[in-house]
Amino acid sequence: MHPTQTPKTYRVKSFGCQMNVYDGDRMAELLAEQGIAPAPEGEDADLVVLNTCHIREKAAEKVYSDIGRLKREDGSSPLIAVAGCVAQAEGEEIMARAPSVKMVVGPQAYHRLPDMIREASEGRRVTDTDMPAETKFDALPRRRRSGPTAFLTVQEGCDKFCTYCVVPYTRGAEVSRPHADLIEEAKRLVEAGAREITLLGQNVNAWTGENARGQTIGLDGLIRELAQIADLARIRYTTSHPNDMTPGLIAAHGEIDKLMPFLHLPVQAGNDRVLKAMNRSHSAESYLKILEQVRAARPDIALSGDFIVGFPGETDAEFEDTLKLVDAVGYAQCFSFKYSPRPGTPAATMDEQVPLAVMDERLQRLQAALNRDQYAFNTATVGKTCTVLVERKGKLPGQWLGKSPWLQSVHFEADAQVGDLVEVEITSAGPNSLGAVVRMVAAA
Ligand code: 5AD
Ligand code: SF4
Repeated sequence: MHPTQTPKTYRVKSFGCQMNVYDGDRMAELLAEQGIAPAPEGEDADLVVLNTCHIREKAAEKVYSDIGRLKREDGSSPLIAVAGCVAQAEGEEIMARAPSVKMVVGPQAYHRLPDMIREASEGRRVTDTDMPAETKFDALPRRRRSGPTAFLTVQEGCDKFCTYCVVPYTRGAEVSRPHADLIEEAKRLVEAGAREITLLGQNVNAWTGENARGQTIGLDGLIRELAQIADLARIRYTTSHPNDMTPGLIAAHGEIDKLMPFLHLPVQAGNDRVLKAMNRSHSAESYLKILEQVRAARPDIALSGDFIVGFPGETDAEFEDTLKLVDAVGYAQCFSFKYSPRPGTPAATMDEQVPLAVMDERLQRLQAALNRDQYAFNTATVGKTCTVLVERKGKLPGQWLGKSPWLQSVHFEADAQVGDLVEVEITSAGPNSLGAVVRMVAAA
């Protein structure tokens, strides 16, 4: 395509967290509404949106190499838009370094993509990294089709300012979407085919809003209302901060059947000095206390977390405290990362950055412990009966894949279809998935 023509096909490539996946899907819908079609598999697109993630290592370099790869054999490039958190943080530099990028659009501004495309098609280069007061959500098209599982962003941004993290700078302050908009979007998603909705937010449990009676409610109140939607079978939420785990939300785990028994509650480290240096504003003990309460409310809850090893100044003994915390919790699954300095964050300029080799060794030890616990958790579900929401076909004929209430992948043979809720007995466990036999199929 010559750069001064309107694009006919698009491709959106999303990296990073589920919120980026949600944003990427919304951008795709926005483009489709403009009459731009998804590029067929294997074919070049006229317009490529790189929806970037900035949270960990070498994010910017990755973007430049992705941009380089988009160059075609004849030397031309598609119309390239860089979106997401790298765009927000390093937009100007991207424009200066990568002439083939025609648009830079931040996570709060992507509803303006259609106008930007018009300008870019006329040969101008446009940047929009504003964080406008009006919400992008109002400007996005309605969703007409949904798979059995859907994401719904209820909250964005973060005010916590953990010292290693870029999110407060790239996504801005905590903002909750209005209650009425969320109920409406959830109903529409269910009408469009969703049977499970995962509520998303950088600090999803900080969500707050006003219900139809004018009362201020928290995430638990929202979940309670969503649970009233008859054809919605399952509700999940992610990611939470320990400080926003209210008694109401903890209790909700014991009271709302549709709220799945799974909690992702990042802790990052097990040592209080490190947690303080991270500005986490909770201790190892207060974190464990919350988990104890959640387990009292919902004994079978599967726990998940995030960890960072090698935060500046972390000693061997302090790292051992992380392993102790892992042993005390018995996680069902976790994400763990080596600390990586993000420019502009306080930790990036802290003394005593931990050598890479030390971080590597700590990460290996931590992941060995987490893998051991994940396998133990999976093994403990063998013999249990539970429902699985059918998400897609498996590799073998007649085989289906879905998720257990505890977010494990389950494969089984059945006469089923996508969107069915199948009652199964778990018969085998591997490190990353379960096998099951079907007891009953409840049609979608
Ligand atoms: N280095 C390593 N990991 C990080 N995370 C966030 N910032 C950094 C960083 N600078 C991890 C945290 C967070 C998850 C989404 O990414 O564990 O919970
Ligand atoms: Fe980043 Fe901390 Fe906010 Fe999570 S709570 S997004 S780690 S600043």
